[in-house]
Amino acid sequence: PPSLPPAAPLLAWYDRHRRALPFRSPAGGRPEPYHVWLSEVMLQQTTVAAVGPRFDRFLARFPTVQALAAAGEGAVMEEWAGLGYYARARNLHACARLVAERGGFPRDAAALRDLPGIGAYTAAAVAAIAFGEAVVPVDGNVERVVARLAAEEGALPAAKPRLAALATGFMADPAARARPGDFAQALFDLGATICTPRAPACALCPWREGCAARRAGIQETLPRKAPK
Ligand code: ADE
Repeated sequence: PPSLPPAAPLLAWYDRHRRALPFRSPAGGRPEPYHVWLSEVMLQQTTVAAVGPRFDRFLARFPTVQALAAAGEGAVMEEWAGLGYYARARNLHACARLVAERGGFPRDAAALRDLPGIGAYTAAAVAAIAFGEAVVPVDGNVERVVARLAAEEGALPAAKPRLAALATGFMADPAARARPGDFAQALFDLGATICTPRAPACALCPWREGCAARRAGIQETLPRKAPK
């Protein structure tokens, strides 16, 4: 298999450049599972910039998962207004009721996956960030970063399972395994600010030496997409 760079330079970069986002706990702080879950559901289809203020407002109205569970359907839908994809709000409410009833969130990705509105990506994000499980949430940004690191020339969507396996492979590195939540969020930040779809800022990238696509000069052409 292609060899991926070590996790340490990415984590060191994250420690210096970590974005202070409204939904993130302070560096080194203990993330609140309710906050992590709520923000990851909001981030499924809404940008980081748009989620910030809505996240704060939502928490002001429903400060705990118990408060959300006890709220009426109409109040939840009203608070979600403008965020779109209203099935998410209904799933959010159903999920809050289940979680309140069982006394807390399940603590691993496999069990989180069984809750309404939580797919493989969100389950892995919550498990890594809130509970420190050694899993890697794989979204489009993470696919792009990994495709470039490995110079994976197979096209999406067929290459998705290979890219997910490569991303998960980072958890064999003890440095990543020690900080799964930070590693996931470092990948998101790298994809959002450095390893962008167009004109990636390779000169600023902590992985510039370890990136096979950059060595071959093909970073901007990856990931390939199958013609529709
Ligand atoms: N996109 C999805 N989850 C995110 C997170 N926790 N931080 C930044 N971007 C994200």
